Amino acid sequence: MSKVISISNHKGGVGKTTSAINIGAGLNRLGKKVLLIDLDPQANLSQSLGLINQDKNIYGAIRGEYKLQPVEVLKGLDVIPSTLDLSGAEVELSGEAGREYILKELIDPIKKHYDYVIIDSPPSLGLLTINSFTASDEIYIPLQAQYLAIQGLTKLVEVIDKIKKRLNKGLKIGGVFITQYDSRKILNRDVVDTIKGHFKNDVFKTMIRDNVALAEAPTQGTDIFRYQIKSKGAEDYLALCKEIIKNK
Ligand SMILES: Nc1ncnc2c1ncn2[C@@H]1O[C@H](COP(=O)(O)OP(=O)(O)OP(=O)(O)O)[C@@H](O)[C@H]1O
Ligand SMILES: [Mg+2]
Repeated sequence: MSKVISISNHKGGVGKTTSAINIGAGLNRLGKKVLLIDLDPQANLSQSLGLINQDKNIYGAIRGEYKLQPVEVLKGLDVIPSTLDLSGAEVELSGEAGREYILKELIDPIKKHYDYVIIDSPPSLGLLTINSFTASDEIYIPLQAQYLAIQGLTKLVEVIDKIKKRLNKGLKIGGVFITQYDSRKILNRDVVDTIKGHFKNDVFKTMIRDNVALAEAPTQGTDIFRYQIKSKGAEDYLALCKEIIKNK
């Protein structure tokens, strides 16, 4: 059985893309077949894996020009790249019937080839994110260990509840995890307590520490495991992946 996961938080820069790539690569290291979908017009995930200006991308597929065309990055790790043109999709599709289901219709026929399909969502709650939630079994929310981390999350939870009611009954929050954690900062520790108080058992035990190697890996077009296997980033994302597999 395959599982479709949206990595989402409408707050920008919280580690969605870094997490999508490294959770994907980590699950792949643990023997799982993974498809990463870049659903962000910024195309950061694609660029971070060295996939720039790919002819067949998520935008053309969403427009109905072709089916999803996975690009193999590693054995058992495929990617559907994005393109800046995707920014036009929200407006172009706004009048289309069944517009919330477009991504689901694209993923459904191919998901059986994968253990996990992981969608990197844009930092907004527009039609692309709604498509992502409609196509998903679970949503994972990365939260930066910073003041105001959970401010604005009420809006996200509201949108998730509406999608559950109207478009995707089975959808659930698969979990919240903390990123860019620095144990030396007292504020970070306070924020973690607040997050745990708020989300209780939905918080993954693994926290992703602040680690410069995680920011460097994309500049080499690669994931943290191929870039620096002995880094804290590699250790943390692998631990998170083990939790994800265990929770299945
Ligand atoms: N644990 C970490 N340690 C250090 N740097 C990190 C870590 N996680 C992410 N970063 C860096 O922080 C920045 C934002 O991360 P990322 O692009 O993954 O966030 P995002 O939520 O996808 O952003 P956007 O909302 O723009 O899509 C990037 O430069 C990334 O390299
Ligand atoms: Mg991103």
